[in-house]
Amino acid sequence: MRIGVLASGSGTNLQAILDAGLPVVLVLADRPGTGALERAEQAAVATEIVDRKAYLPDRVAFTDAVVDALRAHDVDLVAMAGFMTILEKPIFDEYENRVTNTHPSLLPAFRGAHAVQDALDAGVKVTGCTIHLAIPEVDSGPILAQQAVEIRDEDTAETLHERIKEVERVLYPEVLRRLADEFGTDSR
Ligand code: GRF
Repeated sequence: MRIGVLASGSGTNLQAILDAGLPVVLVLADRPGTGALERAEQAAVATEIVDRKAYLPDRVAFTDAVVDALRAHDVDLVAMAGFMTILEKPIFDEYENRVTNTHPSLLPAFRGAHAVQDALDAGVKVTGCTIHLAIPEVDSGPILAQQAVEIRDEDTAETLHERIKEVERVLYPEVLRRLADEFGTDSR
């Protein structure tokens, strides 16, 4: 199993995946200068940048470039961990049922980029995180694992997101370990 992690941000989920000893062979970012890229370099994992600015608004061309980079590193499982560019059909054709994502809400509630703030605004008392197989529809696809996080009266989006991320950092590596074990002997 060769995992490629797609990340745009600080990369704390990536770090948890690395710390779990999962076989990450590539960290791909959609912009330069991210914490995730630094963490990959620290861990001596190969990095690629497919700069969204060079492709957008053509998300299919962007996706094709991401797939090319994944193929070049013989990646067979793609783990999105805070990847903030929407990917199009080519990656889901190339990696059918082999693209995972973590999302900071209990899907199907609060899809999209502002899931934590949206949960606060809705006044719900419980939110959480979802690890799922990704499909072309954003924040959709078969759910692999979920965990609830209670919302406190004093929560801001930052404090709540941090508690959700604590849970993601345990759950996501567990799910990837399970998939790696399942797919381990089944090379593409
Ligand atoms: C996570 O909460 C993930 O669910 C969301 O972005 C955050 C990424 O955080 N899509 P990090 O970069 O792994 O710290």
